[in-house]
Amino acid sequence: MRICDIVTPMSVMSYDELVDADRKLVDAARDATLNAYAPYSHFSVRAAVGLDDGAVVCGSNQENAAFPSGMCAERVAAFYAGANNPGAKFAAIAIAARDAEGKEVEAPVSPCGACRQVLLEYEKLAGRNVRVLLVGSDEIYVLPSVKSLLPLAFNEF
Ligand code: THU
Repeated sequence: MRICDIVTPMSVMSYDELVDADRKLVDAARDATLNAYAPYSHFSVRAAVGLDDGAVVCGSNQENAAFPSGMCAERVAAFYAGANNPGAKFAAIAIAARDAEGKEVEAPVSPCGACRQVLLEYEKLAGRNVRVLLVGSDEIYVLPSVKSLLPLAFNEF
């Protein structure tokens, strides 16, 4: 396969079409009680990691006056899950976002490059594909794996 042949395989689904486990993750990612700390961008992102034992671990973006010191929702959730559930395998992650007015974004947010690399490591640790659910107000993009979001990734082990 050549780089120009690589496309991201994904299904565009409605909330009702999702399997129960995925709906639970989407609900957790959307949960209004999990407030982001985003006083600078006013863009609130929330991520929910589903572990293979059914546990759900959430994170939100945490900004900082020293801008690069903040952290995306995906990495907050992934590192929290890793730090508190050592050895637990990731099964899926859902990512949702709200704009400055608190309205859920119409077009799903997709993780930044650094988050993709971090999530890829947890996918490798799980030893199987980790589903990615990118949540918009009406449509949810369902991707089969983190790897599908990061072709030709750095792969040290
Ligand atoms: N952000 C995330 O939390 N996840 C993403 O996938 C993209 C961006 C955060 C970082 C920053 O706090 C705000 O969204 C605006 O970029």
